[in-house]
Amino acid sequence: MPTPQENESLRVLISQRDLERKVSELAERINRDYADSDQLIAIGVLKGSVFFMSDLLKQIDVPMQVDFFQAASYGSSTVPGEVRIKRDVDVSIRGKDVLLIEDIVDTGHTLNTILSLLGFREPRSVRLCALLDKSARREKEVKIDYSGFEIDDLFVIGYGLDFNEKYRNLPYIGVLETPSDSQEENE
Ligand code: IMP
Ligand code: MG
Repeated sequence: MPTPQENESLRVLISQRDLERKVSELAERINRDYADSDQLIAIGVLKGSVFFMSDLLKQIDVPMQVDFFQAASYGSSTVPGEVRIKRDVDVSIRGKDVLLIEDIVDTGHTLNTILSLLGFREPRSVRLCALLDKSARREKEVKIDYSGFEIDDLFVIGYGLDFNEKYRNLPYIGVLETPSDSQEENE
């Protein structure tokens, strides 16, 4: 488990137990909704979704394919919200029931782009499952069919989410606080 660097402290926002409970709840709903599907494909958005996805899919008893998609936002020097594809899925999704799995929906630009791109390929259905929803930051509308937790406008880490590629393997969702943050909180 990663430990905070000097000047950083970690506050637990969503505990391991609460995550486990929520993942089971979502899995139950997904099992029910896709019980009759013989064309399910779960597509994880790399890298943030992998811890959540792995726990979730182990509890799904509908036969499925598993694949990954990776997107990244361009730097601030170009158009804000412009999304670049880093890795596409390996298989055709035409006629399939796509369940897209994401760690967090923030501004919504990433998911909005991925969803419209996948939509062009004529899947039978597309639904989105996102562990976290930071709806206060939304700039592009995104429909989340299976949503884990709605959270405030905080920068969170752990359970797949990173800060500069660190902290993904924390077993809980935390908030990274620097001394200046905690001062703000005290004001
Ligand atoms: P978007 O703003 O909805 O396009 O989100 C883009 C990506 O930003 C997400 O898929 C995450 O990888 C990342 N992200 C957004 N908010 C956070 C956060 O609080 N912690 C870590 N990563 C985040
Ligand atoms: Mg992500």
